[in-house]
Amino acid sequence: MHFGLVSALALVSLAVASGADSLRPTRWARFPTGVIQPRGWLKAQASLQAEALTSHLPLFWAEIANTSWLGGSADNIGGIHESTPYWLNGAVPLAYQLNHTLLLAVVDKYISGILDRQHPDGWLGPDTDPDDFWSRYPFVLALVQYHEAQPRVAPERTRVLKAALAFFAAVERRLAARRALQLWSAARVYDLIWALQYFAEAVPGGSASPRAAWLLALTRQLRNVGFDWQGAWFGNASAFPRVAADGDPDGMWTHGVNNAQAMKHGAVWSRQSDNASASVAESLQAWRVLMRYHGQPHGIFSADEHLAGRSPSRGTELCVVVEGMWSLALLAQASTDDDGATEALDALQGVAFNALPGGLSDDLWSRPYLQFPNSFQARPKEDDHVWASDGPDAAQYGLASQYECCTANFHQGIPKLTAHLFFEVSDENALVSAIWAPCELTTDLEKGVGGGASVQLRTEYPFGLHAEYIIRNPKAFELRIHVPKFLREVDGSSQDSTSLRVWVDGRSRNVNIVDGFVSYEIPAWTLPEPRVAVRLEWTSTPRIMRTDGHGASVFVGPLLLTPDLGETWQKVHSYEFGAADWDAVASQNWRYALVPPEASGGAHGFGPVVRRSPGARPFAHSSGACPLVVNATLLRLAPAVWPEAHSAPTAPPKLHDARGFFVEERLMLPYACSALHVAALPEAPPVEASIVL
Ligand SMILES: *[C@@H]1O[C@H](CO)[C@@H](O)[C@H](O)[C@H]1NC(C)=O
Ligand SMILES: *[C@@H]1O[C@H](CO)[C@@H](O)[C@H](O)[C@H]1NC(C)=O
Ligand SMILES: *[C@@H]1O[C@H](CO)[C@@H](O)[C@H](O)[C@H]1NC(C)=O
Ligand SMILES: *[C@@H]1O[C@H](CO)[C@@H](O)[C@H](O)[C@H]1NC(C)=O
Ligand SMILES: *[C@@H]1O[C@H](CO)[C@@H](O)[C@H](O)[C@H]1NC(C)=O
Repeated sequence: MHFGLVSALALVSLAVASGADSLRPTRWARFPTGVIQPRGWLKAQASLQAEALTSHLPLFWAEIANTSWLGGSADNIGGIHESTPYWLNGAVPLAYQLNHTLLLAVVDKYISGILDRQHPDGWLGPDTDPDDFWSRYPFVLALVQYHEAQPRVAPERTRVLKAALAFFAAVERRLAARRALQLWSAARVYDLIWALQYFAEAVPGGSASPRAAWLLALTRQLRNVGFDWQGAWFGNASAFPRVAADGDPDGMWTHGVNNAQAMKHGAVWSRQSDNASASVAESLQAWRVLMRYHGQPHGIFSADEHLAGRSPSRGTELCVVVEGMWSLALLAQASTDDDGATEALDALQGVAFNALPGGLSDDLWSRPYLQFPNSFQARPKEDDHVWASDGPDAAQYGLASQYECCTANFHQGIPKLTAHLFFEVSDENALVSAIWAPCELTTDLEKGVGGGASVQLRTEYPFGLHAEYIIRNPKAFELRIHVPKFLREVDGSSQDSTSLRVWVDGRSRNVNIVDGFVSYEIPAWTLPEPRVAVRLEWTSTPRIMRTDGHGASVFVGPLLLTPDLGETWQKVHSYEFGAADWDAVASQNWRYALVPPEASGGAHGFGPVVRRSPGARPFAHSSGACPLVVNATLLRLAPAVWPEAHSAPTAPPKLHDARGFFVEERLMLPYACSALHVAALPEAPPVEASIVL
């Protein structure tokens, strides 16, 4: 490494003169990468990912094995070098969260190899296009996580900080010659701004230091040359599309992944803006308009390359899913009140438990580019397809069907979910349990809540019906638990609103849900063995959620369900190790409607929900192995009633009469336990006894 810090330091003095900029803390503090570790089913899923593509891609996939970031000829598609940075952005946290010896060694090799090749002027990565700032953003995100996962005194920490500062100085020099960033670099600029904010706090002296002032001045400059997502898009009723943006094949603004990333703009900027709650509200509004006009029952918006409207036959790209999850986590963290945080956390878990695993095979060796609420096949070479801008392989489960990005980028999904399961509010001595999923953490001995509390969250949620917080806490602290939406609803269709019960240190307690949270004081516990400090139990039965004109969906808790379509998989191409491309089709009828309650003895004819402990493949695509199934009485529709078009179901039909159709009992599975789905169903109107039973 030949560059020094000279240039970065020289610029510092300039910035100091131009006035101080301050960095507000977010309301909740996130724990550094590696502090929260997955347990139970979440560890099974994380380990599956680590043993499958995350650790194997560097062994056989040219984009990472021969990456241009280490001098190779690959990772160069269209002049962009994003694959290795994308992969590192997930592989780094996964390695630390699992303490995975092999993966730790692999990410070390990549990070140190890339830093070894840093250009004398500080620029990082292959420099083939002076306008390509973008390829570097996910690498800098990986650097943040790598930096914070190191012990405080590690030499790697110093090295990463120096490299990052030298890179930011190079960014500043390149910006001086430009009036605007281009394309992806402009659309995704808030990812870089987030990283700059992190390093502004990580420099010696912290965010009040001259070097931090320089970094924050650079964030303002970047904001000025990036897209104005609020003024020109999310907050602009004459610009934001209310229907599928199919006529915009090159558009940066309509691009699904750009929108998923841009959602974070207000949450990120709230740390520097004049009005934090107004900035956070902009991110919340972005999420709301995306879901209002493009939302899908699997929890995220459609974008089969570009925003695609609410038809359940339209697709969503896996990159939209993982980027949307990270934006929602940042929104929850930055929200200035519990209402906003609650909305973001409800949304985040909907995506995390449906669209994320639903966009991957159950062994985590393959993925489709697009997933669909309603689809009866996921085949290669679908020339007559329903999605707009993507090619004929976009629905196929494979190594890199349609395009490489999602193969490289999906790795961040599970690790970033894990990293945001808990937050800390130090000055209120409070720990926030944001989403129920099994994990364990120990807070900082000196500054952490509860005097270095260790907390294990033991639960099989979203499959199970209880959660336990097993805690050892030298000092008392407040535990704030986000209660998922299905347990807060009081509308007539829900039987769940009163079902939550809570015990603290063995004593039954009142359940007083305020703005989505219950809070309990956890008395100090200094015995060497932790105890079950808090236990929660609830019930959850199938519920129907309706979207105007786009069908009705069945949920159990946060899990979206689909009738089991009996998918059959045929291998069409093998790569090395476990990687392959597949052809998946339904072996069973997909045309069903929900029957009205009175035709089926109440509650829309659902049998008991059968739950099993998740196994080594938590989202097993098999009715015999997946953790939750329920029988449903459904109305079988004739092809003429619900036709297909372009190899996909047409819109769920409006049924005027249920007579003449057969009623069948069908097994329903979680959406993510199936490659093929009918997750938005028509509903039959109330009928007389003429129905054929
Ligand atoms: C990497 O490049 C080398 C040299 O060009 C080639 O022999 C090798 O097959 C490539 N590996 C992969 C995984 O593409
Ligand atoms: C990680 O694993 C190593 C042994 O493989 C062990 O020495 C170390 O303490 C572990 N670290 C953490 C944080 O669990
Ligand atoms: C809002 O969108 C319209 C239509 O695209 C555009 O003309 C206008 O400049 C936008 N407003 C802002 C503040 O960007
Ligand atoms: C900040 O913005 C909110 C709206 O989001 C507004 O209600 C509040 O008055 C603003 N605060 C200040 C100090 O301007
Ligand atoms: C579903 O129904 C079938 C037959 O009607 C029965 O054999 C099966 O055990 C049921 N499964 C569940 C999960 O209720």
